[in-house]
Amino acid sequence: MRFKDKVAIVTGGASGLGRATAMRLASEGASVGIADINDAGAKLVAEEIADAGGVARPLRLDITVEEDFRSAVGAMVESYGRLDIMHNNAAFTSPEAIAQDTDILEISNDIWDQIFAGTVRGTMHGCRHAILAMRRHGGGAIVNTASMYGVEAFYKMPAYCVSKAAVIQLTKQVATAFGRQGIRCNAVAPSMISTPLLDASIPAAFIEMNAEATLTGYLGTPEDVAQAVAWLASDEARYITGQVIRVDGGSTAHLATYADARRFYDAPVAA
Ligand SMILES: NC(=O)c1ccc[n+]([C@@H]2O[C@H](COP(=O)([O-])OP(=O)(O)OC[C@H]3O[C@@H](n4cnc5c(N)ncnc54)[C@H](O)[C@@H]3O)[C@@H](O)[C@H]2O)c1
Repeated sequence: MRFKDKVAIVTGGASGLGRATAMRLASEGASVGIADINDAGAKLVAEEIADAGGVARPLRLDITVEEDFRSAVGAMVESYGRLDIMHNNAAFTSPEAIAQDTDILEISNDIWDQIFAGTVRGTMHGCRHAILAMRRHGGGAIVNTASMYGVEAFYKMPAYCVSKAAVIQLTKQVATAFGRQGIRCNAVAPSMISTPLLDASIPAAFIEMNAEATLTGYLGTPEDVAQAVAWLASDEARYITGQVIRVDGGSTAHLATYADARRFYDAPVAA
């Protein structure tokens, strides 16, 4: 029960990685706000947590709207008296925006700005309102969700890649500026994570290529990311701040030729 008496908010908590983290934090004693643009989904996750004996409430939040952060944090402080953990997990990943995030010659300024307003400004607002609440009782832990695409470049999705790189620098900036006020701020940078949504929307061959690039030989699960977030949010990580933990099975630890090299050297020799 690492989070007994702790109060947490998880943005994008209605699905995928956010849902897994919300459930992990709640299972270890935290009261969790499931902050999501998807009201029905947030309510379902809060119910699932309650059914399992935990404490959670849905919070209506659109990461592009600062007022929603103010209200979400206010609601948690009103209900549970404090805020200890903020997990800024949601990004601006509407299918329409991602489909148009092709390359910098083509992407419209409007889509570029929307992705930045959601992913970068939204994460900044999450940090801002969390810090305002946390420092009233001596501090807290913020964990932002970046991506391997914010650590290394991908040849598509420039706005997504650059916005996630900005989330990493924001993480370090917040850790630096507010460390002496008891705020720790870290990020996780997941590689491709196996979710039902991913399996349904990404061609199996491309998922397999991503698995081949891992050093573990398999893609991680939302629970793998949730474990890392929970550790960063816990007092066990009290001396860890301003860091980016790559939850990526080693995908970004090696040279780009890794998968080809394995095929080359490990290919069965013809009899
Ligand atoms: N799944 C992966 O492979 C992967 C890899 C690296 C990073 N990430 C990052 O992890 C985070 C979560 O991704 P996921 O795969 O769990 O996605 P998901 O689609 O399963 O869940 C995202 C959640 O965010 C919510 N959301 C979307 N727009 C929102 C908004 N404007 N305001 C508030 N909530 C909003 C959705 O309703 C949904 O509940 C994102 O930041 C994503 O970039 C995911």
